[in-house]
Amino acid sequence: MPALAYVNGRYAPVSDAVIPVEDRGFQFADSVYEVVAFLNGRFLDPEKHLWRLRRNLAALHIEGVAGDAALLSIAKRLVARSRLRDGILYIQVSRGVARRDHPFPAATRPTLVMVARRFDFAQRIAQQKLGVAVISLPEQRWARADLKTTGLLPAVLSKQEARDAGAFEAMLVAGDGSVTEGASTNLWMVDNAGCIRTHPLSARILPGVARDTLMALARADGLRIEERAFTLEEARSAAELFLTSTTAPILPIVSLDGAPVGTGVPGPVAARLAALTWTEISRQTGWGQAGPAA
Ligand SMILES: Cc1ncc(COP(=O)(O)O)c(C=O)c1O
Repeated sequence: MPALAYVNGRYAPVSDAVIPVEDRGFQFADSVYEVVAFLNGRFLDPEKHLWRLRRNLAALHIEGVAGDAALLSIAKRLVARSRLRDGILYIQVSRGVARRDHPFPAATRPTLVMVARRFDFAQRIAQQKLGVAVISLPEQRWARADLKTTGLLPAVLSKQEARDAGAFEAMLVAGDGSVTEGASTNLWMVDNAGCIRTHPLSARILPGVARDTLMALARADGLRIEERAFTLEEARSAAELFLTSTTAPILPIVSLDGAPVGTGVPGPVAARLAALTWTEISRQTGWGQAGPAA
């Protein structure tokens, strides 16, 4: 099933969807985005994604965007028309089209783009049993990494460097030695006392939806969890490392800069959290309950 797009009221195959060259998203990365998973035709955590989208729009002073109910109804219609069951919905809102000039233009209409495309979540379950590799790289992003804007060049370059090194993700390390997050994921460690740690919410990291869900699941399960930054050195001696994101709800990290993490295979805490995560996904969407995927 090809990806289907919605652009300012029009539905079209993604290969036919276009925006004007003077769209500020294209020229200035003056735009925000969201990536929402849908499984079994149902969105995962839609309220959290809409909340974050509103927060980002407010931070950029982009006004005049349809309300949550209208956005959700466009999103549902797009997914229904796409006839996909499992996939990701990409939402992008730019400040709109105007003659190129840095300051905000007067009275432009925001551009609203959505794309629904297939995504195989079952592959993540297979990957979870093997784990993935990461490499550490210097943090190069701007000082507002908490905003989900399309200004993603530092993330693109870091991710490519990771891929060139045969790794799944880049572990971004700030100037003070602390690990912030991945190029497109939140990062976690389990220390040798069994405590789960991740960077606290601040301007240095994206407040991940999967991060939020995992934290709630871990707390409800009685696991010890702390929002406290860890250093690259601590990561190197961690019992376990793992990452979370919408497209990788949890993946153990088994290699850091070519050295094994812990025992070099996915650990018990990540396995427990993975079980909780997929149960929650199934609870929200019904995914995996009927088929063999889970
Ligand atoms: C920099 C960064 N951190 C974390 C995440 C994970 O966020 P979420 O769990 O909402 O997908 C992403 C997702 O794209 C990201 O780009």
